[in-house]
Amino acid sequence: MKDANWITGGSIFRKEFIIGKDIKNAKLAITAKGVYVAYINGRRVGGFILAPGYTSYNKRHQYQEYDVSGLLKSGANTIDVWVGGGWYNSGMNWTKGYKYGAANGIIAELDLDGEKICTDGSWLCCKSPVISDSIYDGERYDARIEPVFCKNAEILDEPKSNLIPQEGEIVAEQERLTPANRFKTPKGEDVIDFGQNLTGYVEFTVTAKAGDKIVLSHAEILDGDGSFYTENLRGAAQRIEYICRDGVQTWKPRFTFMGFRYVRIDEAPDPENIELTAIAVYSDMKRTGYFESSDKMLNKFFENALWGQKSNFLDIPTDCPQRDERLGWTGDAQIFMKAASYNYDTERFFVKWLGDLAADQFEDGNVPMVIPDSLPPHEVFGKGSAAWGDAAVICPWRLYTIYGNRDILGKQFESMKKWTYFNRPYADYHLGDWLALDDSDGDYTHSTRKEFVGRAYSIYSTGIVIKAGRILGEDVSEFVAFRDNAVMEFNRDYPYTEYYTQAEHVLALHFDIAPDKPAVAKALADKIAADGGHLTTGFVGAAYLLHALSDNGYTELAYDLLLRKEYPSWFYPITMGATTVWERWNGIKPDGTYFAADMNSFNHYAFGTAVDWLYEVAAGIKADESEPGFENIIIKPVTDGRFDYLGASVETRFGRVSSKWTRKDGGIAYEIEVPTKAEIVIGGETHKVGRGSYEFHTD
Ligand code: BGC
Repeated sequence: MKDANWITGGSIFRKEFIIGKDIKNAKLAITAKGVYVAYINGRRVGGFILAPGYTSYNKRHQYQEYDVSGLLKSGANTIDVWVGGGWYNSGMNWTKGYKYGAANGIIAELDLDGEKICTDGSWLCCKSPVISDSIYDGERYDARIEPVFCKNAEILDEPKSNLIPQEGEIVAEQERLTPANRFKTPKGEDVIDFGQNLTGYVEFTVTAKAGDKIVLSHAEILDGDGSFYTENLRGAAQRIEYICRDGVQTWKPRFTFMGFRYVRIDEAPDPENIELTAIAVYSDMKRTGYFESSDKMLNKFFENALWGQKSNFLDIPTDCPQRDERLGWTGDAQIFMKAASYNYDTERFFVKWLGDLAADQFEDGNVPMVIPDSLPPHEVFGKGSAAWGDAAVICPWRLYTIYGNRDILGKQFESMKKWTYFNRPYADYHLGDWLALDDSDGDYTHSTRKEFVGRAYSIYSTGIVIKAGRILGEDVSEFVAFRDNAVMEFNRDYPYTEYYTQAEHVLALHFDIAPDKPAVAKALADKIAADGGHLTTGFVGAAYLLHALSDNGYTELAYDLLLRKEYPSWFYPITMGATTVWERWNGIKPDGTYFAADMNSFNHYAFGTAVDWLYEVAAGIKADESEPGFENIIIKPVTDGRFDYLGASVETRFGRVSSKWTRKDGGIAYEIEVPTKAEIVIGGETHKVGRGSYEFHTD
């Protein structure tokens, strides 16, 4: 991009050029302040939806490179680039006020066998048929508008030093869903049900007259009466308004996305004859993990969690895809990343996001609550929160354990250390065990002591920094001393006989802090029984609850909690028709009323963390930290009498590992496939094996 300029002035930019000789290699390097779609001779360049993706633009702004040889012809050629506001400029967060810059624009360099056509003042520009567009509010489009290129682009004198080549995955159109149902609501609304909550948009085909209007609204759920419900979207309109031209036309938006299962046709020339297809849009990660069991509801839970990931891995890991947030909340990402990285190959996705995390991290080591950081000024969240900021440490460590990526540890090590330093006096704004059920006093952070969570995470993350530092050959003695002392002080200030909530027991067990694990595990089991045999944990506690139980001898209780259908539980939303994982255990209460309108997403992946337990414990496939990237695999399935079979597989960097157990001949038969080497633990015996397929049987 050396010779190219940032240009602005319109929402479509055009350059016409002549090719007089055979071109062997044609490459287009391009990006936008905003989101762009480029066309050469009317054909779309690449399949990246919402390119260039979402980064901390002022510091790291991705550009893409496309091989465009196949789109050019000899003679006259045209390149058109459409631009919308996107994350850059349509106003992020619930204030809709966070913008990275005032003007949309592009920068591009077309390389034709070494000869370059670069964006400059000779490019033409004009208004496009897109009347308005926004990440949260949707798109308005007037198909009658024919672009007339009547002026030259203006050069934007802005830096290029923040430009970086594409690091993440591209975002692409994925599943296409046809309507599952169409009905009139009690309010008389015309509603299409796609049968699946998802993120993306609809494509429609209509026959119309110029000036006819099509207006579509999008929602995740219906209200208690079965009418269209948009209150939980808060300030996000996620609405499409399209003014038709004459004839048959097929259209979908370019610069927005919605979180939805239902579409309401608010206006259409001939509503019966509009054809609608929902298109799921998310990062183009390779699917790597599969799970199946004889319990249909468990399979549905797995599917729902998978859709939670698809819906919220749209270039960055978001909290939710529908309301006026869709932000890279660090805590949600950190908690779900393990499950996510068995399901899909998330390496590139997280390497990019961690680049933004390090870039946006404050001088004092504090990590913004969302990455890229696009929150309002930091008066509320300025002090950071444990479990959220710990993404700085935990996410690189997962990339190391799951993909064997050692480089990322080196790259992020400063950022990792900085956060643990910051959290030493214990960051003093804490979200605690967010959305737990221990109290119902209206405080979303609930009754697990916040400083307890902060100090437990400080110990946990410092432990990871120690392991990472040793791998990198760093001197970690100071961290070791800090951790030893922190554990001692923790146990002094929080005697293990006086833990208060389920989450407190869980953290002390899972983070190896509790001095007497059997006693704490028993106390946790007693606490669950006293709580009516159900979980009360929030985002943080729920992530480790099943592990804390099964690691300490309470496997059956873990399965009890997992398979419970009554409220509150993982399966309860499924009994209420959920097709994704809800933000809250009580999003819709058993009496059909909603918890609240303001913080009630039906597509949050955070409670989908139980999926990592399905891989690691139920099927028993776990990466061995000492030989990361699945070079060695610990395979230790944990069976339960309620299943006829259960199994999972993961496509690792070394090949496919799978583990399945089936009830057979009064015992259990195991079928295991190992791509490299493994320690298989079955019936209390450990078998060290190499690559191959293995069968075992226990009585
Ligand atoms: C998000 C959460 C997030 C939380 C923390 C919410 O609005 O949706 O998932 O972690 O805020 O404050």
